[in-house]
Amino acid sequence: MTKDDLARAREWLAEAQSVTVLTGAGVSAESGIATFRGPGGVWEKVNPMELASSEGFRRDPRKVWAWYNARRRQLLEARPNPGHYALVELEKRVPCFGLITQNVDRLHQAAGSRNVVELHGNIWEVRCTGCGRLEDRTGVELPDEPHCDHCGAWLRPNVVWFGEELPSGAWRLAEEWTRRADVFLVVGTSAEVWPAAGLIYLAKDAGAKIIEINPEDTAATKVVDLALRGPSGQILPQIVPA
Ligand code: OAD
Repeated sequence: MTKDDLARAREWLAEAQSVTVLTGAGVSAESGIATFRGPGGVWEKVNPMELASSEGFRRDPRKVWAWYNARRRQLLEARPNPGHYALVELEKRVPCFGLITQNVDRLHQAAGSRNVVELHGNIWEVRCTGCGRLEDRTGVELPDEPHCDHCGAWLRPNVVWFGEELPSGAWRLAEEWTRRADVFLVVGTSAEVWPAAGLIYLAKDAGAKIIEINPEDTAATKVVDLALRGPSGQILPQIVPA
């Protein structure tokens, strides 16, 4: 990556009428939150089918909640990093802006991003497995075995688990924002999880210029127009137009 690459990215963003961003776990890495894949990733230590699937939850809800409660406690200490804040600034400078995230940590919103779609739900809301009631329990310490106050059934985190469909409203909006983008930023995602990764190819087909920000090559690198190699907390602040 050269100075020219950064300047080119800045220029594309300055000229764009519509910018859409897709983020993944990497954007929160500099806030101290581990990514899922790669060395030291979450899925190296725990089995996603045990902890992040509805079958796993049915088999052992206590185990699943122990893990989610630990993640909630860790997130209570986490703060947005310069990458999150750069995207807040970008939103202020671009006429039409949308941020699509696969992250469940809500750090984009904590930084101040407004137009955010959560493709994989979020870890702070809980949903009743019996009556379907959704409740926001942001920052609240949950019991080891959280149950619904209304019907008594198990509560579950309002996240999308393996094998589950994405929330349809969120997906529709994500597709709309992707199709209208002049510039599509792909930040901190391995681009291995579908359908989220499919948005990158949709943006390509719709004619957007695609910029990838990631220290590593990813499954989508071959289709991007510009790859900026490095941590998003360092790169993003350098490409937001003045
Ligand atoms: P992954 O863990 O698959 O990928 C994280 C990406 O972040 C990798 O490409 C890293 O190279 C990159 N990365 C690491 N540090 C970075 C940094 N400082 N700045 C920028 N990038 C960095 O995470 P996701 O692509 O988000 O789904 O994974 C997608 C989904 O898979 C997650 O939403 C989660 C997971 O299973 C569910 O839980 C449903």
